[in-house]
Amino acid sequence: MIYLDANATTPMLPEVVEAMMPWMTENPCNPNASYRGAKEARKAIEAAREQVAALVGASPDEIVFTGGGTESTNMALKWLARLVGRKTGRVVTTAIEHSAVLKPVETFEQVGYAVDRCGVDAGGRLELDEFRKACEAAKEGGGFASVMWANNETGVIQPLAEACGIARENGLAFHTDAIQAVGKIPVKVRELAVDFLSLSAHKFHGPKGVGALFVRSGCRFEPMVRGGGQEKDRRSGTENVAGIVGMGKAAELAMRDLDLRMKAVVSLRDAFESKLVEMVQGVTVNGDLIHRLPGTTHLSFDRCEAAGLLILLDDMEVACSAGSACMTGKQQPSHVQKAMGFSDAKAKSSLRFGFSALNTMDEVEKAAACVAKSVEKLRRVQGGSTGPVVVYS
Ligand SMILES: Cc1ncc(COP(=O)(O)O)c(C=O)c1O
Repeated sequence: MIYLDANATTPMLPEVVEAMMPWMTENPCNPNASYRGAKEARKAIEAAREQVAALVGASPDEIVFTGGGTESTNMALKWLARLVGRKTGRVVTTAIEHSAVLKPVETFEQVGYAVDRCGVDAGGRLELDEFRKACEAAKEGGGFASVMWANNETGVIQPLAEACGIARENGLAFHTDAIQAVGKIPVKVRELAVDFLSLSAHKFHGPKGVGALFVRSGCRFEPMVRGGGQEKDRRSGTENVAGIVGMGKAAELAMRDLDLRMKAVVSLRDAFESKLVEMVQGVTVNGDLIHRLPGTTHLSFDRCEAAGLLILLDDMEVACSAGSACMTGKQQPSHVQKAMGFSDAKAKSSLRFGFSALNTMDEVEKAAACVAKSVEKLRRVQGGSTGPVVVYS
């Protein structure tokens, strides 16, 4: 298989698997017990906390381990909603968030919170004027803001520093879903003064089902999951020792290799786009071309349904997605595509490719040839004339 879906998940690195193995095979201890093996497990968790903290420029006691990115966003948002209260509390977010943010926000709205889902421009970046107005409206009664760092469907990087600054000027607490950004581009919590930041190990070559929430020191925070008081009573439950150790190792490697990885994936992504432009007519590269993750490309193929392309590509063992992984199989344009003003036809003809440093140029060449072949085949079956050579939007 040629795996080009790094926004959905990334393969674990061998070093990560190796670091996890002893905690699945040799040491069965509960890190909360008192004997030697338990203390070793505790030590391993704390070492991982340091590795994850270093990756995002936090201090270790600001990192709370969770059961993944979705849990992290839910923990932050549900706490903030409780804190501001539903009577006057306002939630300011964007129209392009992942469902891990959109769904909890929907439940707040159902019980009486006012919600602003700010729009984006045609390139998929947050409209800051609209965001400012919403934050100003939230100032009086109190509220909080949540803006994703980078979008999972398009890879477009949001104007986070500006958004965070605006929220702060208006006295709003600020959460960012940085799940697509951490480990792929530099993310440093101190540079932006965010209060809460969600991250997930499997997006940067760590294991699935383990994540973390950064909680800025001094920020009030009460847990969503209560029980034995683990994670300094911020997230109860016996820790996933192997998963946490794997996340720590993945964070250490991401920090060490970030520059190299960014350069590698940019050249893979750019080569893929150039090859497609050479071989296929009617290709559009979607989203802001300057502010985007180095390893993501979101493409529309004129007069070609993405659903059909996915089937043909799967037959040729090329793995990619239509929009976000969560939307695959659904025929509706995604909320992100709608927010960017895509026509239905364009939305239905879009594919997302995500490259990681584990991909090779040989794979890129083969995959581009497979895409070109599939597009040609589908167009032949569907009929019609050839489209424009290439349009960048
Ligand atoms: C932007 C974004 N937020 C949240 C999530 C959910 O993270 P997890 O899969 O770790 O629950 C994802 C995963 O696709 C994502 O891309």
